[in-house]
Amino acid sequence: MSFDPIRRLIEDDMVAVDRVIRQQLYSDVALVRQVSEYIIHSGGKRLRPVLTILAAKALGYGGHHHHTLAAVVEFIHTATLLHDDVVDKSAMRRGKKTANELFGNAASVLVGDFVYSRAFQMMVSVDSMRVMQVLADATNVIAEGEVLQLLNCHDADVDESRYLQVIRFKTAKLFEAAARLGGILAGAPETTQEAMATFGARLGTAFQIIDDVLDYSGDLSMTGKNLGDDLAEGKATLPLIFVMREGRAEDAAVIRHAIEAGAVEEMATVVRIIQNSGALDYARRCAERESAAACAALDDIVPASDYRTALEQLAHLATHRSS
Ligand code: IPE
Ligand code: IPE
Ligand code: MG
Ligand code: MG
Repeated sequence: MSFDPIRRLIEDDMVAVDRVIRQQLYSDVALVRQVSEYIIHSGGKRLRPVLTILAAKALGYGGHHHHTLAAVVEFIHTATLLHDDVVDKSAMRRGKKTANELFGNAASVLVGDFVYSRAFQMMVSVDSMRVMQVLADATNVIAEGEVLQLLNCHDADVDESRYLQVIRFKTAKLFEAAARLGGILAGAPETTQEAMATFGARLGTAFQIIDDVLDYSGDLSMTGKNLGDDLAEGKATLPLIFVMREGRAEDAAVIRHAIEAGAVEEMATVVRIIQNSGALDYARRCAERESAAACAALDDIVPASDYRTALEQLAHLATHRSS
């Protein structure tokens, strides 16, 4: 299964979203245009906008604000990536050099601020206090998640619950907002909005668990990102946490040291330990559990339709993906 059939179902909407994105990136300042267009047109998966569109349509929305809000969500995502790649010192994203690698850290941070604030200018046009509240809260929680993660770096005592807290904040919160916005636009009952939000949050959690699995098992040609970035940052992600908790004592010691030292030169050893310990399967099972919980949240609440089926396929793909 690929993302293509899902995107085809909402092709017209996604063309409209891309139009909004292109229009709204405009700035008279050439460097702003250069950096923001570079990252936004370098081909991300556009998963969060897809989620907003599908959620809105699964709940019967017939207006056009979903295009604006889908673009807003993608802008918030893009701004976090511009900042995240500086913090993580990442050199590759979407199969190309990162903006920080090409234009420098200062330009990345400042254009990230531009993209963030443009998102806030755009959301005002929807004229809904509730929409602004959801997006303001999500943006704030993402920032907290990134700071929490910073505090956790090189800490080998980070356990599964601290790991999950970080990913719920830094990643799942925006997926949650993206899905919830569909429910708000559709004027769905509160319980339905809440079910959509849960769907997004659990999907986003699965998505980040797999992102972390791919950092030890993926392929640059598929993920578009360098493997080993997480280890270099001393990030205790789920596969590492599993080995420290359940692996052989000597393996746990190697992983513990690699996290504390950010020992990217030990990447080959770390990958071998992870692959032989069942850690990747464990993490994938956790992701599957999240995806299943996402789908279960829609049961008996969201009526059957092609859009709901596509949401369920999205949850499946979040777990079974290589890019
Ligand atoms: C990358 O997200 C950041 C994470 C939350 C893992 P995506 O994998 O959705 O990034 P793009 O937009 O498709 O490049
Ligand atoms: C995602 O975290 C960043 C945010 C959600 C803000 P990662 O650092 O794991 O994402 P990648 O791997 O760089 O895309
Ligand atoms: Mg990163
Ligand atoms: Mg990552």
